[in-house]
Amino acid sequence: MEKIKVGVLGATGMVGQRYIKLLENHPWFEVTYVAASPRSAGKKYKDAVSSRWLIGSDIPADVADLIVEDANDEKKAVGKCKFVFSALEMGKDEIKALEAAYAAEGIPVVSNASANRWTEDVPMLIPEINFSHLDVIADQKKHNGWDKGFIAVKPNCSLQTYMMPIFALQQAGYPIKRMIVTTLQATSGAGYPGVASFDMIDNIVPYIGGEEEKTEKECLKILGSVKDGKIENAAGPIVSSTCTRVPVIDGHTACVSLEFDLPEDKKPSLEEIEKVWTAFTSLPQELELPSAPVHPIVVRHEENRPQPRRDRETEKGMACVIGRLRPCNVFDVKFVALSHNTKRGAAMGGILNAELLKAKGFFDNL
Ligand SMILES: NC(=O)c1ccc[n+]([C@@H]2O[C@H](COP(=O)([O-])OP(=O)(O)OC[C@H]3O[C@@H](n4cnc5c(N)ncnc54)[C@H](OP(=O)(O)O)[C@@H]3O)[C@@H](O)[C@H]2O)c1
Repeated sequence: MEKIKVGVLGATGMVGQRYIKLLENHPWFEVTYVAASPRSAGKKYKDAVSSRWLIGSDIPADVADLIVEDANDEKKAVGKCKFVFSALEMGKDEIKALEAAYAAEGIPVVSNASANRWTEDVPMLIPEINFSHLDVIADQKKHNGWDKGFIAVKPNCSLQTYMMPIFALQQAGYPIKRMIVTTLQATSGAGYPGVASFDMIDNIVPYIGGEEEKTEKECLKILGSVKDGKIENAAGPIVSSTCTRVPVIDGHTACVSLEFDLPEDKKPSLEEIEKVWTAFTSLPQELELPSAPVHPIVVRHEENRPQPRRDRETEKGMACVIGRLRPCNVFDVKFVALSHNTKRGAAMGGILNAELLKAKGFFDNL
């Protein structure tokens, strides 16, 4: 099978570098185009990232000598790649305009940025949960007059730690009314150079700008449904969150307490909850998408797991790893969940979105 030529916007950044590494030897996609800020434009990729290559192995040889283009000039990508992954860090309005400009040029955009997460006709995908939101893409193209291009986005990285377990429970007939979530988020989540080392070493920062709002709201769109050409949010669950930055390189942890929207005698036992989680699979597993984890939710029983260093690479960094499932004195149950923020939460999650789009024919006839 001939591979699809892809571009990476923001290829020099923390998430962009992950894309470059994860797409090396990808069975369906090959990187033929890289773009970043005007500061990097015109340089060979290997020179643009020479002092800040953060992935623990060599720069893939077939990308090292590509010339970095200015991501602000969408016309440069035409003819060089069929679709782009967007991992840009710029102002929201700028990213929104730029992603639309690529789509208008007939280049679909699979984005990690938050700029289009609340655009009503843009799907915010976790493929195991809301693959049915792909239906809105036809309306999005119609609304914008785009022939081939479209935009699909990924949600915030911290949500990935607990959205699959929440969805699996709801789907099994155990709706959730309220949740309290405290996240312990890795330093890589702030990009590079990110938080100053003096703020991070020997410290915890109890605030991440905009993160709590995202954590509380994005789950409603993810659990929503397509109606009249846009995505209508779900009514719940109600989420109250506290998001903190901790001195961990990769791997976001979330401590979650939840209350079921069920009478006492209908609430699941801990054993039933675990059964739902370990049995959970979805369309990406059915389609055997290359980046899909075989087991999307992994439950551990040791009293001191999950831990970022030990568990973040579970299922290629694509699993939600859960431990410490136990009764909660205030709500019904509580647990600790972990996922890899720059893999499942960013680049590999974006690649899984693209694999789903490809498998569903959205890249045909580009
Ligand atoms: N880090 C995570 O775990 C994570 C998780 C989920 C989502 N995200 C999202 O993914 C995106 C990238 O995050 P990151 O952590 O990789 O950020 P980052 O390390 O700061 O990288 C930013 C990238 O954007 C480029 N850029 C900056 N200003 C630009 C401009 N004016 N024009 C064109 N390109 C420009 C940079 O190019 P230069 O190198 O040339 O400056 C670089 O390639 C963000 O939207 C972020 O919210 C990140």
